[in-house]
Amino acid sequence: MSEQTEPLKTAPIITVQQHILQEQKRFPGASGEFSWLLSGITMATKMIQAKVRRAGLSDILGEQGAVNVQGEVQQKLDVYSNEVLVHCLSTRESIGVLASEENEEPILVHQGSENANYAVVFDPLDGSSNIDVNVSVGTTFSILRRPPGVSLDEPEKWVLQPGSKTIAAGYVVYGSSTLLVYSVGNGVHGFTLEPSVGAYILSHPNMKMPQQGKYYSVNEAYIDTFPPRYREYIERLRSGVLGHKYASRYIGSMVADFHRTLLKGGVFLYPPTEANPGGKLRLLYEANPIAFLAEQAGGTAIDGTQRVLDIQPESIHQRVPFVVGSRVELADFERFASK
Ligand code: AHG
Ligand code: MN
Ligand code: MN
Repeated sequence: MSEQTEPLKTAPIITVQQHILQEQKRFPGASGEFSWLLSGITMATKMIQAKVRRAGLSDILGEQGAVNVQGEVQQKLDVYSNEVLVHCLSTRESIGVLASEENEEPILVHQGSENANYAVVFDPLDGSSNIDVNVSVGTTFSILRRPPGVSLDEPEKWVLQPGSKTIAAGYVVYGSSTLLVYSVGNGVHGFTLEPSVGAYILSHPNMKMPQQGKYYSVNEAYIDTFPPRYREYIERLRSGVLGHKYASRYIGSMVADFHRTLLKGGVFLYPPTEANPGGKLRLLYEANPIAFLAEQAGGTAIDGTQRVLDIQPESIHQRVPFVVGSRVELADFERFASK
């Protein structure tokens, strides 16, 4: 029998690089620098995912032995992921400042170049408690522009901006596949890593969060220490007053919990608790990128009272209570619990 060549599928294959080049037409004068910047993130996250995929094989599981600025024990993969992101991003001349969950202070990377106009803030590895047990982890990032009049050597001022100033944000979820979800303020787009060619391919164009979902997502073990309005809200979800009785899903990796919420709708909460009265999640590099994506997908993100993207940050590792999800669930929260 003669060999037959399979015809190429007719649907266009769009890589993240192509997509970014299209999107950056929205930034007059950006002339390729933005796609070069984002390629630092795609490169780093491919390296991180390669390590995550081999986690049980290499000597990478477990604790590093150090404690990060949050007072949390660093996992080896936290450290590796941070180093890779810093390495890949510090060679992009348009980037002046990096701020990471794993570094107490922002890092200056511009080497004096006045062309450095962007700051990148990131959580290199989100959901570290899940690394050793083969459960999804992620990376989150936001890109901010250097505010007018701020000099190269004032790194805090580059990053202490409200999330409404975000130029682009996204996450990568290292799940059953590796998926990059990002937005430059023109909708939310998902790219699945095709491992055999090492390219992120558009698989989820123009993602929209359903208006309402079936699940709430919260660490219910702490429920006794939530402020009463959060307890009452969860009771509302369970009681059926929103049209059906909710089920719960909680992974413990914000990226993965949010990713499900983005696709299926519902609500994710990390309320104030006894251990973390100001919330646990970090405003700059956890809540803000997720809030930006949620809004771009038609959802809502609040700190329990106000819009997350309106909060003026005061410090780099500031924490914030976080409620994010579909319109219906968030409207109900705002009506009955947002006091
Ligand atoms: P990180 O691994 O970057 O420190 O973040 C962990 C965060 C977040 O991913 C998750 O939503 C939350 O911690 C889980 O916390 P609990 O174990 O307290 O539920
Ligand atoms: Mn995190
Ligand atoms: Mn982390």
